[in-house]
Amino acid sequence: MADVKPYILVLYYSRHGATAEMAQRIARGINEVEGIEARLRTVPAISTVCEAVADSIPEEGAVYCSEEDLRHCAGLALGSPTRFGNMAAPLKYFIDGTSSLWLSGALINKPASVFSSTSSLHGGQETTLLSMMLPLLHHGMLISGVPYSETALFSTEKGGTPYGATHVAGSDSNQPLTEDELAICLSQGKRIATLALKLTGENT
Ligand SMILES: Cc1cc2nc3c(=O)[nH]c(=O)nc-3n(C[C@H](O)[C@H](O)[C@H](O)COP(=O)(O)O)c2cc1C
Repeated sequence: MADVKPYILVLYYSRHGATAEMAQRIARGINEVEGIEARLRTVPAISTVCEAVADSIPEEGAVYCSEEDLRHCAGLALGSPTRFGNMAAPLKYFIDGTSSLWLSGALINKPASVFSSTSSLHGGQETTLLSMMLPLLHHGMLISGVPYSETALFSTEKGGTPYGATHVAGSDSNQPLTEDELAICLSQGKRIATLALKLTGENT
């Protein structure tokens, strides 16, 4: 993959658009770092009829993530809406299909970060973020958060944690990201991109 510019995979699931908006802001932060770019990918919804196959290209938004997108990333930003304090099933389903990457150690020593959206202020953002870190640790990834040098962590009255960017989307899941939430997303994107560039020599 020497001819491909290094990229951070921004992989997310979003039903109402809040996590997608966070992903776009994190991607902007990544793209502000020279020498690396963001690759936005999503996963299809899943249903109880598990044999149903989604169209290979979604009607709108980011395209679906392939195993190769994940294999060759220089780093990962993983985003999910909170579902009962945990990540959403479509994202978990995708991750559960990454055994071959685990077996080959493809993600070892690559930096990763996580982000999430909830409806309510105390609706489980941190537990979701922590749950999302677990499979990434099994993959040998280096988990990074958001340091308090990002001052929006002090001023935010909605989302934003040192474990990763978060957003409080409200009961109708339609609240826009606040300035602080946007700043934290941007800073998380910049950080994961910078870390990936620093680690690139060790990954290849
Ligand atoms: C099954 C289900 C469980 C949910 N659990 C939580 C929860 O534990 N805490 C919370 O604040 N919001 C919860 N929500 C609300 C979602 O987190 C919210 O709709 C989401 O953050 C919006 O993100 P999106 O626009 O990317 O889909 C839940 C929603 C669904 C459908």
